[in-house]
Amino acid sequence: MNLDHKIAIVTGAGSGIGRATAVALADVGATVIVTDVDEAGGHETVAGIGEAARFALLDVTDRAACRALADDLLDEHGRVDILVNAAGWDLIQPFVDNTDEYMDAIVGLNLKGPINVCKAMIPPLTASGSGRIVNVASDAGRVGSSGETVYAGAKGGVVAFTKSLAREMTRHQIRVNCVCPGPTDTPLFAQQPEKMRIALERAIPMRRLARPSEIADAIVFFASDRASFVTGQVLSVSGGLTMVD
Ligand code: NAI
Repeated sequence: MNLDHKIAIVTGAGSGIGRATAVALADVGATVIVTDVDEAGGHETVAGIGEAARFALLDVTDRAACRALADDLLDEHGRVDILVNAAGWDLIQPFVDNTDEYMDAIVGLNLKGPINVCKAMIPPLTASGSGRIVNVASDAGRVGSSGETVYAGAKGGVVAFTKSLAREMTRHQIRVNCVCPGPTDTPLFAQQPEKMRIALERAIPMRRLARPSEIADAIVFFASDRASFVTGQVLSVSGGLTMVD
């Protein structure tokens, strides 16, 4: 796999899956724009990669900021070849306890976030002549998850958005695919109670959580020429926890 001379942007790249993806893309030759709201995390990712990466502050809920970054990238590179939407967040809590603010925040980040970034990045991705978008959803969006009801709705929306966008984007030579992680050992997952980790490790056929790099491997596949005829597809990376037709 070779992504030499490709310009990639990764959201939520200051931690977890986004960081692992930035590292994996750089490992196969891409120049990576590491974006996050967390400046310290973003700079740490860049420091781990070196010259092939640079940091850009981006809150994916801020449409004007998404458009401004797209314009900057067009000016600087003339195109964007790869967009990975990894920014996301969740807090497990019964639906009956969800406040209006909580629900707006979950949908605003997990569903509207990727929509905002995709919309803004269409011009530089079109300029690539061979653009690739990989959205990070969740198996919660495919099979449901108690305590993550609004999050599951948002992630299910990302799955459906991916498919429709893929259909529309073929005329712009942009492929759009989606990776659905199962439980993955990241700072986000570390917020969950220990008993949940133990229960999930028992339930997962491969008897462990995913490593962030294992999710990144699937993302890099979709972003590469090895997936040159693949668009509108959804891949779960969950150690067998979910098996969806
Ligand atoms: P993480 O918490 O380690 O990293 C998420 C990153 O997103 C953080 O650096 C955070 O600062 C950034 N972020 C938060 N709000 C943002 C905003 N408004 N704009 C830009 N960046 C923002 O989480 P993790 O686990 O790496 O999650 C990555 C993606 O994978 C998320 O979309 C998450 O929903 C999804 N996912 C994670 C699973 C897991 O078990 N860890 C399972 C299924 C899906």
